[in-house]
Amino acid sequence: MKTLLKGGRVINPATGLDQVMDVLIEDNVIAAMESNIPAARADEVIELKETQWVTPGLVDVHVHFRDPGNPDKETTATGAASALAGGFTTVCVMPNTSPVIDSTPMVQYIMNAAQPTGIQIFPIAAVTRGLEGEEMTAIGTLLQNGAVGFSDDGRPVSSANMMRKALEYSKMFDVPIVCHAEDCTLCGNGVMHEGYYSTLLGLPGIPSVAESVMVARDIELARFTGGRVHFAHVSSKESVALIRQAKAEGLNITAETTPHYLSLTDACCQGYDPDFKMNGPLRAESDQKALIDAVMDGTIDVIATDHAPHTPDEKAMAFDCAPNGVIGLETSLGVMLTHFYHTKRLQPLDLIKIMSSRPAEIFKLKASGNLAVGQRADIAVIDPNLEWQVDPAQFKSKSRNTPFKGQTLKGRAVMTFANGRCLYRLEASPQETAVAAGRSF
Ligand code: DOR
Repeated sequence: MKTLLKGGRVINPATGLDQVMDVLIEDNVIAAMESNIPAARADEVIELKETQWVTPGLVDVHVHFRDPGNPDKETTATGAASALAGGFTTVCVMPNTSPVIDSTPMVQYIMNAAQPTGIQIFPIAAVTRGLEGEEMTAIGTLLQNGAVGFSDDGRPVSSANMMRKALEYSKMFDVPIVCHAEDCTLCGNGVMHEGYYSTLLGLPGIPSVAESVMVARDIELARFTGGRVHFAHVSSKESVALIRQAKAEGLNITAETTPHYLSLTDACCQGYDPDFKMNGPLRAESDQKALIDAVMDGTIDVIATDHAPHTPDEKAMAFDCAPNGVIGLETSLGVMLTHFYHTKRLQPLDLIKIMSSRPAEIFKLKASGNLAVGQRADIAVIDPNLEWQVDPAQFKSKSRNTPFKGQTLKGRAVMTFANGRCLYRLEASPQETAVAAGRSF
């Protein structure tokens, strides 16, 4: 099967390419990227507008698909469908499943579950057995079997000595340890950011220092061991300052933040709606501003969603009782385009870079984040100007816990190709269908 994507704006951060041209997909690979590829070379021609972007399939290195253990929240199939609808063709799944991804059979389980979905799913395996912080997993063996990083995400690695050892292995194998930065003794029973709004709402707070104290510790351990730390879901301005300084010193450190920290604040918790509850929490406006600056100056390397599905019943509890986490795969691109492209904070190449080639580089995902002849055809077609309203009922994810419900976003993926096959296509609204058919609406 040969499919020609004709006339789109091809944006490939890995090579700095940003040009209107055609892309020919042949079976599962990119066969040509040139101006004016003759339609006769393809079985199917998809005419694109010059305003539509053709980019590498997006890469999200931090998702929870709850497989195995909680098919009521998400499955590998529904998680993959959600990814595709958001323009993602590669994801890394976190190990806080039931059972935990901490052994070779569990890593193999994830690789097998990924197969039928069509997208690339890589396991991040646990640093410690059962995420219990006591006994380190067999990092070398798990890596050989397909893990691409290690984390006890959902929890910190509380013992500095355990983190030191993990980082020594990380140096040996040149693999990132993904740090969920949180000092649980400082979090106490907090349920939201400690500040003005937690006081106003009468809810126990999580101080910013609960995160930054761990960021500081792990920077020092990275310096001491030479290991690689990747900071997950960075939420506070203090963490940003520490990471910026550590990078200036040349330490082997990378960091991600999420679309929700970049676009929402703790003020959103005023309605006591648990769809605004996650860990780390939404923080103050000054934190949001620091994170935006950090994305713009490259201190933050990567946008990741921390896609954390929970059932509507679980999220229907009171704010302080509901589980932490929000879903993000189907809103990530729209939020980033709305808040970074349409505000001119980032150029398209830079925006797509932090959502594709840079995460692929950090986690060494060689078949992801690049458009090149001979490369696996993982491609997103994005309409950056399409306005849409977030309606959780339309999500492919099994869960509905989005803090963006009802928001109008500008831009989204309209087609997603994985391994050469179009596995997602945005259905035209009745209005668009009518216009296309020449009817007035
Ligand atoms: O809010 C969160 N939810 N933060 C985490 O670190 C874990 C995640 C989950 O697994 O639900």
